[in-house]
Amino acid sequence: MNSKGKILVTGGTGFIGSHTTVELIQQGYEVVIIDNLSNSEEFVIDRIEQITGIRPKFYEFDLLDFNKLDSFFKENSNLVGVIHFAAAKAVGESVQIPLHYYRNNLVTMVNLLELMIKYKVTNFVFSSSCTVYGQPDELPVTENAPVKPAESPYGYTKQVNENILKDTIHSGADIKGIALRYFNPIGAHHSGLIGELPRGVPSNLMPFITQTANGLREQLSVFGDDYTTPDGSCIRDYIHVVDLAKAHIVAIERLIYAKNKNNYEMFNIGTGNGFSVFEVIKSFEKSTGKKLNYKVVARRAGDIEQIWADTTIANQELGWKAEKTLDEMTLSAWQWEQKYRAK
Ligand code: WQD
Repeated sequence: MNSKGKILVTGGTGFIGSHTTVELIQQGYEVVIIDNLSNSEEFVIDRIEQITGIRPKFYEFDLLDFNKLDSFFKENSNLVGVIHFAAAKAVGESVQIPLHYYRNNLVTMVNLLELMIKYKVTNFVFSSSCTVYGQPDELPVTENAPVKPAESPYGYTKQVNENILKDTIHSGADIKGIALRYFNPIGAHHSGLIGELPRGVPSNLMPFITQTANGLREQLSVFGDDYTTPDGSCIRDYIHVVDLAKAHIVAIERLIYAKNKNNYEMFNIGTGNGFSVFEVIKSFEKSTGKKLNYKVVARRAGDIEQIWADTTIANQELGWKAEKTLDEMTLSAWQWEQKYRAK
């Protein structure tokens, strides 16, 4: 079968990158991955092959290495686009080692864009985040809401990278770009072969829940039940990672087939529904039949109270809509956890 085109996925062995690679391959694209395996495992490449029947070409190196990246672009001269996931993403860690975050997340962005211009690769999809909104004044939050001062160096790198992309496009460089502002991706591929694989103690809710349910952690701490939300816990817009992955296909195709040059856009990628921490726990218990050991503790520093997306623009412009329910998300996360630990 002829490929629809070759796409570079940076961070393709990570959580969202691996699910997006699967969708791209299943849609007929050829995928090449660059990943330094700093927060992911090489076996993910085998798993992608198991799911799709096609093994993506894998380059293990760091995007900070400009010369290696230059050689990569020279060798892969026919790329139709780049989807850029590779980044450090731990909010707390970014406060401890900000310079690592600034070098790692910002310089890699600059390297990629410079070489895309040099090698005339025009289409760029960037992994951004709802973190750019901070605590929005109005909910649901639209793309036109103001970007608030970042709460962490990590969050700041997302804001700066959006600007780097926008400024590059507006400078007249032959680049078109879309920033996808993800809400809270959870869940796993229905095969149970790929999923979220945090190193050490998870800081995010879903992996902490699944690891508690299978006995790796003793108890889940619910960070605060005294917020001004209906049940007192924080509210987020959780989105199934496969729905999120599919948004990247429509985004890159929008760029590939776009007539207008020098176009920069950003879209909210969520479901449009907010769920509280207690609702996520209830969904997990219902969908899996497992009782979860949890207790309420103090609020976590830096948490915003509530956020969920207005997805009208993404739905209309991209013709994309998240489909999976919270129960499907929590169940798939559990199936992945069980299958992975049983190996
Ligand atoms: C969700 C809710 C916690 C853990 C994440 C990323 C951030 C950004 C956006 C990309 C909150 C509560 C959590 C636990 C809990 N992603 N919680 N007990 O903070 O919304 O941000 O998505 O840019 O990088 O970190 O996600 O999963 O950490 O928390 O009660 O053990 O669960 O307080 O309300 P968050 P999260």
